[in-house]
Amino acid sequence: MREHWLLPDSPYRSYDAYLDAVGSRAVEVARGRPAAQLLEEIKKSGLRGRGGAGFPTGTKWATLANHPCRIRDAVVNAAEGEPGTFKDRWLLRYNPYAVLEGLLIAAHVIGARGLYVGVKASSTTEIARLTKAIEELAAAGVLAGSEIRVVPGPEEYLFGEEKALLEVIEGNEPLPREPHYPPYEKGLFATPFSPNPALVNNAETFAHIPSIVARGGESFRRLGTANTSGTCLYTISGDVLRPGVYEREAGVTLRELVHDAAGGPREGRQVKAILSGVAAPVITPSRLDTPADFASMEMAGSALGSAGFIVFDDSRSMPRLAQAVARFLYVESCNQCTACKHGLRTASEALDGIFGAPTSRADDYLRALYGARSAPQANRCYLPVEGAALIPSLLETFEQEFGTPHGHLASSSEPILIAQICDFDAERGVFLVDQRQARKQPDWSYAEEPRPSAIRVVSTPRDVDRAPVVVRLSSDLVPLLSERARSAGRTLDVLVNDAMREWLEQAAERGDRD
Ligand SMILES: Cc1cc2nc3c(=O)[nH]c(=O)nc-3n(C[C@H](O)[C@H](O)[C@H](O)COP(=O)(O)O)c2cc1C
Ligand code: SF4
Repeated sequence: MREHWLLPDSPYRSYDAYLDAVGSRAVEVARGRPAAQLLEEIKKSGLRGRGGAGFPTGTKWATLANHPCRIRDAVVNAAEGEPGTFKDRWLLRYNPYAVLEGLLIAAHVIGARGLYVGVKASSTTEIARLTKAIEELAAAGVLAGSEIRVVPGPEEYLFGEEKALLEVIEGNEPLPREPHYPPYEKGLFATPFSPNPALVNNAETFAHIPSIVARGGESFRRLGTANTSGTCLYTISGDVLRPGVYEREAGVTLRELVHDAAGGPREGRQVKAILSGVAAPVITPSRLDTPADFASMEMAGSALGSAGFIVFDDSRSMPRLAQAVARFLYVESCNQCTACKHGLRTASEALDGIFGAPTSRADDYLRALYGARSAPQANRCYLPVEGAALIPSLLETFEQEFGTPHGHLASSSEPILIAQICDFDAERGVFLVDQRQARKQPDWSYAEEPRPSAIRVVSTPRDVDRAPVVVRLSSDLVPLLSERARSAGRTLDVLVNDAMREWLEQAAERGDRD
């Protein structure tokens, strides 16, 4: 295993296999050194948080270590709900040991009492992997009496927001606390007399700690760029030939990630737009040579975020993309701050209106723009800030696709689904995106799945190998099947011949939906 790299070629089979590969016992090394010295080493490494904001890890740890309240906890954020990101779950599948060692080192440095890993209840593979790894660490005597609790959480995007994550650990809904209560000031099970500050770091951030402790901050800094040291776990998904999680030195260019690592778009297609999760302005192909590090991405007018890039090729409609992003953020907003839910609803409904929804008005384009921009006011968290950055960037960058003057668009272009990645299908080499998001309502309930009521075989030729089978579908089934086919990487051809067309027209006149 190369120094400071996190992902082995195949998942570590045991803690011993991990120790053999990395060649050091970082937790033991850390416990033999004073906390202040370790803090200096982490600061020297230049490590920045991999959860999205890129906050300097050494500074965050020092705040906790110096906090007047002696009751402190440490929390791994493995909620991973950003659309287009799968790196934390990949890391937990391949190398849960580095994450857990990082957590144990944090416990030593900040003097933490409770240790937690927040992970979605639906991430069953990762929970099983973590549970076994914790048992192994206990058997190896590395826990030294401390207990690591794995806390299964809900599906919501906000579960990963750090103040909401603490709420979930306390047994509540994933609703962000007020902004003046950051985790390093008010942590877990606080009382008026004891704020119990908590250290919350992303899973990948923790995973970088053991090698920094074992090999030194200077050595870590030699990888990556001046503003983003070390390696980075990049998730590349969408319209590319080889979607996946790729570990590269921070600062590799977007072109190397999209074209070299992920194979670029399908033959005959070109990259049209790239999203950095749903958290930053859209990236256009002219920016493909931007190094994927925190500062360069900002200079290019976007952000690195959690290094999850979703690629869209030139077959995609950008108004449809804006519609999907607005819908996702509107639905996921928790409605604690009025402007957030209201502004994102305005943007979402206006973009639906552009495609002829009953909410349609003449000024839909402008309502979408101003709705999104008005969302971040008195906001408890950054979700509306993300919407205010990304939605207008799509509207403005691709304004010509909205027509001149801004008009209403035919609803025939294929809708896009923006949702969390729920798994990686290794056999087909594709990410599976949570299809249930299409039915999720702004109150976080789910609309009933449209029932595919009518699939009736109307003619079955004897030799099915040579002739097509003709089936009659209910009209609401066609978009559903098209979406399923698309997510499976296939194309669904709906053929309507003359006889069928005549029959359909008669059926429509009769009001028959089958
Ligand atoms: C809506 C929203 C969702 C977030 N989801 C995640 C997440 O799934 N995982 C994560 O590590 N950070 C997430 N964050 C960022 C966290 O709030 C926090 O900044 C991060 O866990 C800090 O860790 P780091 O310093 O190691 O980056 C999210 C933030 C917002 C506003
Ligand atoms: S800003 Fe939006 S998502 Fe965040 S807490 Fe307020 S309403 Fe909820």
